[in-house]
Amino acid sequence: MAQTLVSIRDLSVRYRSRDEAAYALDQVSFDIERGSVFALVGESGSGKTTIGMSVLNLLPDEADILGGEVYFGPDNMLTLDERSLRHIRGRRVTMIFQDPVAGLNPVINVGDQVGEVLTTHLGMGKREAKDAAVDILAGVGLADPKRVAKSYPFQLSGGMCQRVMIGIATALQPDLIIADEPTAALDVTVQAQILHQLDTLRREQGTAILLITHDFGVVSQVADQVGVMYAGHLVEQGPVREVLASPLHPYTHGLLAALPRLDHVDQELYALPGASPDLDQPAEACPFIPRCRKAMQHCRDQRPPQLTPVPGNSARAVACYNPVWQD
Ligand SMILES: Nc1ncnc2c1ncn2[C@@H]1O[C@H](COP(=O)(O)OP(=O)(O)O)[C@@H](O)[C@H]1O
Ligand SMILES: [Mg+2]
Repeated sequence: MAQTLVSIRDLSVRYRSRDEAAYALDQVSFDIERGSVFALVGESGSGKTTIGMSVLNLLPDEADILGGEVYFGPDNMLTLDERSLRHIRGRRVTMIFQDPVAGLNPVINVGDQVGEVLTTHLGMGKREAKDAAVDILAGVGLADPKRVAKSYPFQLSGGMCQRVMIGIATALQPDLIIADEPTAALDVTVQAQILHQLDTLRREQGTAILLITHDFGVVSQVADQVGVMYAGHLVEQGPVREVLASPLHPYTHGLLAALPRLDHVDQELYALPGASPDLDQPAEACPFIPRCRKAMQHCRDQRPPQLTPVPGNSARAVACYNPVWQD
């Protein structure tokens, strides 16, 4: 029986900058099951990173949470006290970023950086942590882990640094890893290896992964569930296989129709004609109208409700009055 690990409910976030506001998330809701991979896919600026940072309650000062909850187990991360948050962050929920080199400390060797996580959180002694760090580096597929442990980040390739980051993120066997575009900076072969590594972790340690990406190829390789973001709205959600086979939202449909092959790793999101809307006002109408071939008057008069379950298939949901039915 699937067990919910993270439950995001009606999350709305706005950024304040000096001259304008950005309504970055509008009533986003979805769940991540234990041990599953949930992929969030969408164009740049659609709100993916904002969701990831909300889960850790690490949004910058200029972000206002307008409403909603982010449950991690029984706790709402958005109202939890700092002490409890510190316990969860870095221990039960960890994060890996697009730029692995920037995530590592340039003046500390890699073995010590992995070891520090173990001494800080598990109270290991220095010696023990040193040996354990080498094991962790071996576990993420780094050849010659003893030598890697003595290396500084600049002496390693981007793919090796990303493996080190995965090692650090998984050292404490967290319940959830938030991976924000973890392979975007890597070449295709290394991308595939890193995805395989994440998949192995999920299988062997039961770690759930929130995988943020703009690449449907990545989604098709490792995710169980996919959520499609458009301009701060979650417009479609469902099991990856089903969404790929029969996308329901016109946006998802357009994206997938534009991909010649889904079994390739290196297929970036095709940019649909037209621009994403400005986010300076909360959306009154459906935000996809300017690019939608199926828009009706109703879509302009009243925004479609947030994700609504699809009749006859409770695993899928779509936020559209006029979805694309395939049969
Ligand atoms: N610190 C910030 N200040 C102002 N606006 C921001 C900030 N961070 C993100 N935004 C805006 O919020 C929206 C969503 O951004 P983001 O979550 O980073 O999207 P994604 O990760 O999908 O590219 C964008 O319009 C972006 O410009
Ligand atoms: Mg982002």
